[in-house]
Amino acid sequence: MVQLGKEDLFPIGMGTWHMGDSPSKRNQEIEALRYGLENGIEVIDTAEMYGEGNSEALIGEAIQDVKREGMYLISKFYPFHAQEPELERALEHSLQLLGTDYLDLYLLHWKSSTPLEETIQSLERYVKDGRIRSWGVSNFDIKDMKEMWKIVGGKNCAANQVLYNVASRGIEYDLLPWQRKKSLPVIAYSPIAQGDTRGDNIIDNNVLQEIANQHHATVFQIMLAWTIRHGDVLSIPQSSDKKHIQENIDATSIQLSEEEMQLIDAEFPAPIRKMPLDII
Ligand SMILES: NC(=O)c1ccc[n+]([C@@H]2O[C@H](COP(=O)([O-])OP(=O)(O)OC[C@H]3O[C@@H](n4cnc5c(N)ncnc54)[C@H](OP(=O)(O)O)[C@@H]3O)[C@@H](O)[C@H]2O)c1
Repeated sequence: MVQLGKEDLFPIGMGTWHMGDSPSKRNQEIEALRYGLENGIEVIDTAEMYGEGNSEALIGEAIQDVKREGMYLISKFYPFHAQEPELERALEHSLQLLGTDYLDLYLLHWKSSTPLEETIQSLERYVKDGRIRSWGVSNFDIKDMKEMWKIVGGKNCAANQVLYNVASRGIEYDLLPWQRKKSLPVIAYSPIAQGDTRGDNIIDNNVLQEIANQHHATVFQIMLAWTIRHGDVLSIPQSSDKKHIQENIDATSIQLSEEEMQLIDAEFPAPIRKMPLDII
């Protein structure tokens, strides 16, 4: 389990970017989300940006008969909605599409030109009135986090969602250790490098394949197990395929040995200097 605020959560959640966009895939996507929830996954990650509400509406349909308490819903607002009255409107719209009274976590999708003080004041108000349980940020690098820590209410941030996978380890240099010290969880997005569709050929890596064979697993499962190896990262792979979702759930049972982690380090070295934050 991974701790997020006061919650102990299953360390694999479900991302939903691009889901809900294609009518022909709708039933399969709804089934996939329901399958995940029925089989141990609690977290669903979405954003008002995803299909301009398509993803939130799809989730709303998938969860309409699911007990709300068993789920942990994350949504995100556009940086250009980070001040009133836009933020209030964005929150209400997300709640309406999801068919729920509250979000468990509401994230600023990336840095905004609205002063953060102002955004935090609104978010704190929503926490008080119960429409969100907690708030956080996404795509914030260490400098942004340190600045936020100095702002009134800034330390109430519950998580930072950033890109993290074996081939993109920049956050290990400074951001991840800093967040660890503050007990502030990282939510890893694109944890399997978008299914290796960006031409990085990670899937063909011999070392990962060999480790996968040892565990009777797939390379994607090894990549997921690697992101959650220290117990303080929540990983949110996206999948519309029940079989893949089951594999992603099973990845939580894979314990990588010290030797395997060293082999991965040799192939995908940890950063030795500050790297710009990877963003998709
Ligand atoms: N905060 C941000 O700025 C930000 C940015 C990007 C993403 N995100 C969030 O993070 C989530 C995940 O990131 P992502 O969607 O970019 O990429 P990802 O989760 O790394 O990869 C998704 C791709 O992997 C495939 N896949 C999933 N599980 C698999 C498995 N077990 N075996 C083989 N293929 C598998 C999926 O296809 P199938 O459907 O065929 O399984 C899909 O094509 C997003 O959906 C979104 O919720 C946030």
